[in-house]
Amino acid sequence: MLQNYFNKQKKCACIFIILIAYSTLCFSNDLNTSFSIVPRPAILEVNAGQFVLAPPLRIMLKSDDALLWRNAEYLQRVLANSTGYDVIVSSDANSVHGKNIIFELCIDANDLGAEGYKLEVTANYIKITSKTPAGNFYGCQTLRQLLSADIEKTFIVQRTWQIPCCRIIDKPCFKWRGMHLDVSRHFFNKSFIKKYLDLLSLYKINVFHWHLTDDEGWRIEIKKYPKLTEVGACRGPKTTASGNFYTQNDIKEIVAYAKERYITIVPEIEMPGHCNAALYAYPELSCTGRVLKTGNDNSRFYFLQEGRFAYCAGKETTFSFLEDVLSEVAELFDSPYIHIGGDERPENLWEQCPVCQKRMQQEGLKNTDELQQYFIRRIEKFLLSKQKRLIGWDQITSDKLAKSSIVISYQSLEPAKKMAKAGNDVILALAENCYFDWYQSKSPDEPKAIGGLVTLKKAYSLNPVLKGLTKEQQSHILGAQGCLWTEYIEKSSHAEYMTFPRICATSEILWSPKKVRGWKDFERRMRSHYNRFDNLNVAYHKYNDKDVIERNSLKK
Ligand code: ACM
Ligand code: ZN
Repeated sequence: MLQNYFNKQKKCACIFIILIAYSTLCFSNDLNTSFSIVPRPAILEVNAGQFVLAPPLRIMLKSDDALLWRNAEYLQRVLANSTGYDVIVSSDANSVHGKNIIFELCIDANDLGAEGYKLEVTANYIKITSKTPAGNFYGCQTLRQLLSADIEKTFIVQRTWQIPCCRIIDKPCFKWRGMHLDVSRHFFNKSFIKKYLDLLSLYKINVFHWHLTDDEGWRIEIKKYPKLTEVGACRGPKTTASGNFYTQNDIKEIVAYAKERYITIVPEIEMPGHCNAALYAYPELSCTGRVLKTGNDNSRFYFLQEGRFAYCAGKETTFSFLEDVLSEVAELFDSPYIHIGGDERPENLWEQCPVCQKRMQQEGLKNTDELQQYFIRRIEKFLLSKQKRLIGWDQITSDKLAKSSIVISYQSLEPAKKMAKAGNDVILALAENCYFDWYQSKSPDEPKAIGGLVTLKKAYSLNPVLKGLTKEQQSHILGAQGCLWTEYIEKSSHAEYMTFPRICATSEILWSPKKVRGWKDFERRMRSHYNRFDNLNVAYHKYNDKDVIERNSLKK
């Protein structure tokens, strides 16, 4: 029995090595122009013929893995929704191929890595082989993109569905393929977050960085500090409050939803700055302890009436508060990471605070930047006690950080290089390529944005392989992410419009090997996704080479 098993695994491994060698030889750009998969697969071999999807349609599992079964039910829902077919999921290993979609796990297919897959489409069957359930899920997303854009519609009328015969061997180049969303400046409800996760998973994004707190609003329920959401999520008097937040049950539901789509949610709790909403709820945590004046309307400036503040770094109560908050956050999210912000601490607060000054004296800190490092290192140590790695924006860059901590480089590539050389992991979110709150064209029709210009082409031009790093240092660049700050983004359709298709560019530069991707081909493939977006009821920007004008109207 065991011998049989090992023989089978050896056979599997040999087939992969042969296929990869063969397919590298036969890869050709020209062959593939009718395929529009984004991100582009590493190896795509086009064959004659097609698989015709027709009932009775069965997804057959050659494994009793529970996650593979869950993936099968996911694909079943996608296919049944648009085809109207009663898709059966079965694990009857004795069935002949027939017209089945076969899922197989091959645990020693090491070439495919943790997220890779092989997808074979023949006239008689479709087969997705992977080492892991995550790889299988990405194979399903590719299969979805091999079907016409109508597959995203809800069933209206019976029609036939063809999938071109092909063989795909695919895996990502980078393991962090992320998208960030600021829900503090404007709140986005649970059903939108689920829609957003669905869309991101279609493009093989695997990290959702959830910016849950900032000056303008605290959006996550913390049981020990109810005022964070009672006060910190509301703007204006209670009767006109625009406050909204996620309950802990909402969070659990969304984390589970993301997990089914192989997306890790990284929560961000901002400190020591960007915390006005928390200080309105608990004023004793600021340097002065003074109750601050609010604005008199329910705009996002409600908590910014007196400017921006920070937690007091001298008071022990600040640290006990943050440790309590982070303990609840650590319990809610299964992510091995927690993002603690660390950016843009306002000046002239700690400098004028006797308690902060006393802390500096006691700890031998020369200036408030060193006090910030002390702050971050204390939080880092606490997070490590909870088995969580700290992530922060590039202002936390320091050679004193624990090697487990991660920096997101957004202002320039210098912090990325410095930290990678120091042996820390790094994520790229360089604003000029990755800040999707910037304008995406020069058209006067664009909705008001924060500034700057990140066209689709510019998003596509980020090179995650940095100059001047050794191979070992480069291995610390985990990947990159798009960022969506929402100062000017109130509606969910607007958030979609700013995200799509720019995140697809980010996804491709992280997933696809450099030798198989190129801007012109990407743009051609991306254009064929616009129908898909329409069918999914997603607002999106239509890239125009002249960098102007055409965009679909924002949906309500
Ligand atoms: C940032 O843009 N302040 C991270
Ligand atoms: Zn202070």
